[in-house]
Amino acid sequence: MFHFLSYLVSTSQSPKTKNTKMVTNCRIAYAFVIGLSLLIATAAEDPYKFYEWHVSYGTISPMGVQQQGILINKMFPGPEIRSVTNDNLIINVFNELDEPFLISWAGIQNRKNSFQDGVYGTTCPIPPGKNYTYALQVKDQIGSFYYFPSLGFHKAAGGFGGIRISSRPMIPVPFPPPADDYTVLIGDWYKTDHKALRAQLDNGGKLPPPDGILINGLSNGATINIQPGNTYRLRISNVGLQNSLNFRIQNHTMKLVEVEGKHTLQNVYSSLDVHLGQSYSVLITANQPGKDYYIVVSSRFTPNVLTTTGVLHYSNSAGPVSGPIPDAPASMSWSFSQARTIRTNLTASGPRPNPQGTYHYGGINVTRTIKLVNSAGQINGKQRYAVNSASFTPSDTPLKLADYFKIDGVYKPGSISDQPKNAPIFSVTSVLQADHKAFVEIVFENWENIVQSWHFNGYSFFVVGMELGKWRPDSRKVYNLNDAVSRCTVQVYPRSWTAIYLALDNVGMWNLRSELWERQYLGQQLYVRVYTTSTSPRDEYQIPTNALLCGRASGAHKGLLSVSGFEN
Ligand SMILES: *[C@@H]1O[C@H](CO)[C@@H](O)[C@H](O)[C@H]1NC(C)=O
Ligand SMILES: *[C@@H]1O[C@H](CO)[C@@H](O)[C@H](O)[C@H]1NC(C)=O
Ligand SMILES: *[C@@H]1O[C@H](CO)[C@@H](O)[C@H](O)[C@H]1NC(C)=O
Ligand SMILES: *[C@@H]1O[C@H](CO)[C@@H](O)[C@H](O)[C@H]1NC(C)=O
Repeated sequence: MFHFLSYLVSTSQSPKTKNTKMVTNCRIAYAFVIGLSLLIATAAEDPYKFYEWHVSYGTISPMGVQQQGILINKMFPGPEIRSVTNDNLIINVFNELDEPFLISWAGIQNRKNSFQDGVYGTTCPIPPGKNYTYALQVKDQIGSFYYFPSLGFHKAAGGFGGIRISSRPMIPVPFPPPADDYTVLIGDWYKTDHKALRAQLDNGGKLPPPDGILINGLSNGATINIQPGNTYRLRISNVGLQNSLNFRIQNHTMKLVEVEGKHTLQNVYSSLDVHLGQSYSVLITANQPGKDYYIVVSSRFTPNVLTTTGVLHYSNSAGPVSGPIPDAPASMSWSFSQARTIRTNLTASGPRPNPQGTYHYGGINVTRTIKLVNSAGQINGKQRYAVNSASFTPSDTPLKLADYFKIDGVYKPGSISDQPKNAPIFSVTSVLQADHKAFVEIVFENWENIVQSWHFNGYSFFVVGMELGKWRPDSRKVYNLNDAVSRCTVQVYPRSWTAIYLALDNVGMWNLRSELWERQYLGQQLYVRVYTTSTSPRDEYQIPTNALLCGRASGAHKGLLSVSGFEN
C-alpha cells in the first residue's frame, strides 16, 4: 500500500502545465521508482512498462471512402501492447476527442482492481482535453487479447489494438518459438460515422448490416510476410461490432495453440470461426510453393455474406494470389463441432510452471446456478435489448465508485434476477450480487435467431457445455468436466445454450456484456458485484490515487489516509 501512497505524493506534484512527452515520461517513471523502493517487502520486482497514448480523431479510409477514425498516437488500429506475465502496464491516456472517452482491456483481469477496468460502471470517463493513467497488472496471465474504447459507439471508429502477454522466460511454452508473431485484428466495419450510428440507436432504431470487413484496418491487401519453411504465430481477435467471422488461408492449415490465455490441444483446422470479442492463436507453416495466397475473412450466418481478403506473401513468391477464394464451411453444425474440439491441454503450462490441468474445476461443487436469457424488444417504441428482461441503463455515477463512497440510490444490488423472467423488457441499472469465492454455474440461453457472444470482465471461465435447444438440469450429463477450455468470451448459437463454470475469486464490479455492440449499447449487459465484507487489500485494492471522480462521486474525497484501509 505504500506503493500507492508514494505514487500519489509524487505525481500530485507534477505541474498541470503542458510538458514535453519526454519530461512527462520521466516524471511518471520517477514516481514509480520511489514507489518501488518502498515496496520491496510487499509486491515484488514485477517490471513496469510505461506508455503515453494520445487519442485523437483523424481521417481514415479503410473502405475507400474518407471517414473520421479514432487514432491512438496517430495509428489505426492502435499500437500493440507487448508484455510478459506479471508486468505492470502504466498507460497514460490523453483524450483529444470532443467527447468523454474510456479504454477497456478485454481479457485483462485487473485482479482486485476493477477500478482500472475502463468501462462505464467502474471508471469515470476521461473528459475531453484531460488524461487518465491506467495502472494495470497482467498478473498470472498469458495470451492474446485486445483493448477497445468502451463508451458510446467509439469502437465503430477504431481505438482498438492488440495486447499480448508472453510467458516468463523460465516457463515452458508447449510449442517451439515461432519465426515471427503477428497480430491479426479482424472485424466488420461501417462507413458511417460513430456518432451517426449512435444517434440511430439513441433515436430508437436498429443498426443496418455492416458495410464490410477489415483485417488490421484494411478492407483490401492486408499482408502477412513469411519465409519458406518457417512457422509463424497469428493472434487473431474479432474486434468487430455485429458479426461472427470465419478466418482461413488458401492452401494452408492452422494449428490452434492458445485461446484467450489458455494453451489448447493443438488441433489442426482449415478454417476457424471467431465470434465477436474472441481471440485465438494459431501456428501456420510456410510449406507451400512460393507465391501469394489469400487470407480470407467472411461473415458467418448472415443473409448477405461479407468477404475480405488479405495476402499471405512468401519471400520467394513467384506470383500474385490466384485461384478461387476458399469457401467457409456452410453449416452451423460445423461451427458447433469445431467449438467442442477446442479444449485445454492439461499437461501444458499456463502462466505458472505447473500444468494447466492442476486445477480440477470439475470436482468443485457448484454453489449457485444462474440462468441468463437474452431478448430483444421495445420500450416506449424504441429498440432495446435485455438479459432476463432487464435492459441495462447507466446511472449517473460509476457503480464501483458508488460502492466505494457508499453513495445510495445509484443502483440496487440484485436489480436483475438470476433466472429468466416471464415479463416485458424494463429499464434498470442491472447489478447481480454474488459472493466472493462462490463457485457458479451460468447457463446462457439464446432463444433468438442470432449468434450471441458474451464477455465477462475480470474473469476466465470454463466452457463446460454447448448444445442446441433449451437447457435442462439433466443437460449437465453432457458437461465436459475434464478439459474444457477456460476463456473470457463465449458464443451461444441460435436457439441453443452454453454453460460455464466460474470461480468468483476476483472482488469487484465486473461487466458481463453482449459483444454484439448494438445490443450492448441498448441494454444487453449487466454488472456482477463480487462482494465480500472484508476491506483488506488482500481482497481488493483501494481506489487509485489518481482516480477521476464524476457524477455523485464528484465531490467525494479519496481520503487516502482515512478511507483507504492503511490500518489493515
Ligand atoms: C495526466 O498526466 C500527467 C502527466 O502529464 C500525470 O502527472 C497525471 O497523473 C495524469 N493524470 C491522471 C489522472 O492520471
Ligand atoms: C492449392 O492446392 C491445390 C492442391 O494441391 C492446387 O491444385 C492449387 O493450385 C493450389 N492453389 C494455389 C493458389 O496454389
Ligand atoms: C500438450 O502439451 C504438451 C507440452 O506440455 C505437448 O507435448 C503435447 O503435444 C500437447 N498435446 C496436445 C494434444 O496438443
Ligand atoms: C460436494 O458435495 C457433496 C454432496 O453434498 C459432498 O459429499 C462432497 O464432499 C462435496 N465436495 C466438495 C469437494 O466439497
